Amino acid sequence: DWTMAAYREEAIRLIREQVGDKQVICGLSGGVDSSVAAVLIHEAIGDQLTCVFVDHGLLRLNEADEVVTMFRDHYNIPLIHADEADLFLGELEGISDPEEKRKTIGRLFIDVFQKYAGDIDGAEFLAQGTLYPDVIESVSFSGGPSVTIKSHHNVGGLPEKMGLKLVEPLRELFKDEVRALGHELGLPASFIGRHPFPGPGLAIRCPGEITRDKLEILRKADAVYIDQIRKHSLYDEIWQAFVAILPVRTVGVMGDGRTYDYACALRAVTSVDGMTADYYPFTHEFLGETATRIINEVKGINRVTYDVTSKPPGTIEWE
Ligand code: XMP
Repeated sequence: DWTMAAYREEAIRLIREQVGDKQVICGLSGGVDSSVAAVLIHEAIGDQLTCVFVDHGLLRLNEADEVVTMFRDHYNIPLIHADEADLFLGELEGISDPEEKRKTIGRLFIDVFQKYAGDIDGAEFLAQGTLYPDVIESVSFSGGPSVTIKSHHNVGGLPEKMGLKLVEPLRELFKDEVRALGHELGLPASFIGRHPFPGPGLAIRCPGEITRDKLEILRKADAVYIDQIRKHSLYDEIWQAFVAILPVRTVGVMGDGRTYDYACALRAVTSVDGMTADYYPFTHEFLGETATRIINEVKGINRVTYDVTSKPPGTIEWE
């Protein structure tokens, strides 16, 4: 009779057996998979685990603080916060091509991870939150069998490059089982139920050139949108929801003045696995209320649109 409690015990036994008294590095993204892996491994081997959290400056409002607080302060897991926003945003300056953005971020991510992980003495293992679906077909999130739609951000190849052996305690689990395991390990429900967030972060929700100004506006608008979704109890019905800031400014009127600010697009989809998706049928009332709130609360945005494209032919992210 298979239970999550039994899985947890067995996984802990196997991690101890594999790792012995050696040091393990875990790349923490703040997502559910790497978080569950980190907490499980920490339970197995305690301070032999060090997490490296690469902060590329493309995270959502307060996200970096929340990750650091949860892991370092709440779970007492040794955590290196690699705050490299200046590096990433500097290198991304002037780049508008989506693939070039993705490749730049992927390359820097590996450099930064290697740099910080290299400081951890005697590390022999790299922990990853790889799931069963990633094992059976290295998930490409592409739209067709042979065309690459997007260069997927991952750290494949890193273990060999760094001469590390892999620890992958979630290899046999599906997403819903990882959530159940996270629950079993005491991770907060609000954290376990979080929508997926892409590795390249807000970079791919900011079509055109990325600037600090645009990122700040985007973070605020996104926070208002998600707050609206939570207030209307829609969060758990939606696979993923976010704002994209558009590379276009439009004319508006506020009070008796003219405005010339950015337009943004709201995105929300339902999906089973992210491979196909339908846009979420919000009511007009919800959309109108959300638009009003964003324009009133977020300086820099004066127009809100709703993206009614399903996948295919659209993709979930804008880039
Ligand atoms: P698309 O935009 O391809 O996205 O329909 C499908 C799902 O994958 C996420 N996504 C990524 N996740 N690294 C990730 O870890 C990436 O480079 C990446 N690109 C897209 C996206 O958020 C959606 O859930």
